[in-house]
Amino acid sequence: MKSTPTKYGSVAVTIHWLSVILILALLGSGFRVASLIESAAKEALLTLHAPLGMAIAALTLLRLVWWRRVDQKPKPVAGDPAWQAFVAKTVHVLFYVVILGMAASGIALFVLSGAGDIVLGASTGPLPDFADYPPRAPHGVGAKLMVALLVLHAGAALYHHFIKKDGLIWRMWYGSDGKGG
Ligand code: HEM
Repeated sequence: MKSTPTKYGSVAVTIHWLSVILILALLGSGFRVASLIESAAKEALLTLHAPLGMAIAALTLLRLVWWRRVDQKPKPVAGDPAWQAFVAKTVHVLFYVVILGMAASGIALFVLSGAGDIVLGASTGPLPDFADYPPRAPHGVGAKLMVALLVLHAGAALYHHFIKKDGLIWRMWYGSDGKGG
């Protein structure tokens, strides 16, 4: 379950790929909701978006506890230039900041605008105009930052896989031999 100096353990691997799925679903549903005009259609999608947002926040807190209290990360890849290691580390830290910031601004937006009550069925629509509430702006900026981080992070993984051909991607998969086996 725990990581080794050369490979992530099964708990870290599960948290990582579950986070990927949740973040892609959140970006897709979030941009879609923002592009819709009709209140009922927005509301329907927000009943998916909001709980997924809370789930990724909980998973991220669990991830923080896992690394602080239980597990130790594998060693950085040998032979990578120092600047690449620095960028990788910065991107990883920014992921935590942006995920938790997005969840906090989303929840604040729901509470301040009264949309939470509407989506939960405690009051009836139509939904408020989210642009009237301060957390909407950081939620939008965070969304774009998240896309930029994903491009950098996935781009680096693909660079290692297809250009450096160093098998790095298998560190973040199940199995003990580093090749998914
Ligand atoms: C990491 C978690 C989250 C991510 C990645 C995320 C992602 C997004 C994205 C990409 C957008 C569209 C932004 C834009 O076009 O400017 C958005 C909008 C929105 N999100 Fe989230 N979100 C998250 C958490 C939450 C949570 C927890 C809630 C509510 C409890 C929430 C409520 C909303 C609302 C109300 C909008 C505005 C829709 C509109 O303007 O019509 N989000 N989100």
